[in-house]
Amino acid sequence: MKSLLFSRFLLLLPWVLIVIIVLDIDSSRAPLPARAPRGGAAGSGEPRSAAARPPPQRRPEAALPTIYAITPTYSRPVQKAELTRLANTFRQVARLHWILVEDAAARSELVTRFVAGAGLPCTHLHVPTPRRYKRPGLPRATEQRNAGLAWLRQRHQHLPPPQPGVLFFADDDNTYSLELFQEMRTTRKVSVWPVGLVGGRRYERPVVENGKVVGWYTGWRADRPFAIDMAGFAVSLQVILSHPKAVFKRRGSQPGMQESDFLKQITTVEELEPKANNCTKVLVWHTRTEKVNLANEPKYHLDTVTIEV
Ligand code: UGA
Ligand code: MN
Repeated sequence: MKSLLFSRFLLLLPWVLIVIIVLDIDSSRAPLPARAPRGGAAGSGEPRSAAARPPPQRRPEAALPTIYAITPTYSRPVQKAELTRLANTFRQVARLHWILVEDAAARSELVTRFVAGAGLPCTHLHVPTPRRYKRPGLPRATEQRNAGLAWLRQRHQHLPPPQPGVLFFADDDNTYSLELFQEMRTTRKVSVWPVGLVGGRRYERPVVENGKVVGWYTGWRADRPFAIDMAGFAVSLQVILSHPKAVFKRRGSQPGMQESDFLKQITTVEELEPKANNCTKVLVWHTRTEKVNLANEPKYHLDTVTIEV
């Protein structure tokens, strides 16, 4: 009896093993079609690198929120060089609309020509800073940033519902990494990040705990409600439109308080969205171009040609 049972077991064993192996192969094959890229590049023999293949879940470019960059700018020997550096960066950013606001009574020929050849969507505005405000120690570019805000609000007044958009203030002399634009593009209300080479320190940054801003690492007036440079935040278009009165103020504003005064009108510290890996990466630098030496520039034009610099 025992040997009969044993011989039957031996007879069945190979079949049981075969069934187990077949089941195993089948289950390891099943997820494969789901993992294959939808683009169909895999196995098609196309010489495309893995990095060039679009990830399947990527949204089409048309759905990306537009980034509006407001840049105040004024005439000086380095102006065209600054604008050239800026345009070279902005041209690499998808769906960026540049709002260039000249601090001048009229559009200058230099900037008009520059905008025409900049190769990116651009709105060219101008407004002069009243002479009484052109003094050291007073905030710069208040009127120009407000002109940019007014244009943005007017443009979207008759376009309900507003297209998704993000606004930030891009001074013409700072240095912007391309990663910064990826970060700010997902701003829901107001986002913040560190700024390099500012406030007498290597960097300033919002201090973040459990995903929330709880303070400011800064070397200058840490008592400011938002101790942040103009280059350190972005605001969604929706917030700009739903706070139509939020502007940069001249009256009552102390030196260095422009950012705080503006942000106070549209958000709270608790609401801020930290970007750049919880505000631990510097993606923008508050660089300042040194005044050029024109000591040998002749008083009267001596060259045989006139060159725009
Ligand atoms: C710091 C801040 O980073 C600025 O955002 C702030 O506007 C400025 O202080 C201020 O004091 O109001 P800082 O490097 O000292 O920046 O200022 P600038 O870079 O000289 O000027 C800021 C922006 O305003 C630049 O885009 C510049 O082209 C423009 N600007 C400056 C004018 O349009 N008109 C001026 O007379 C001076
Ligand atoms: Mn500057």
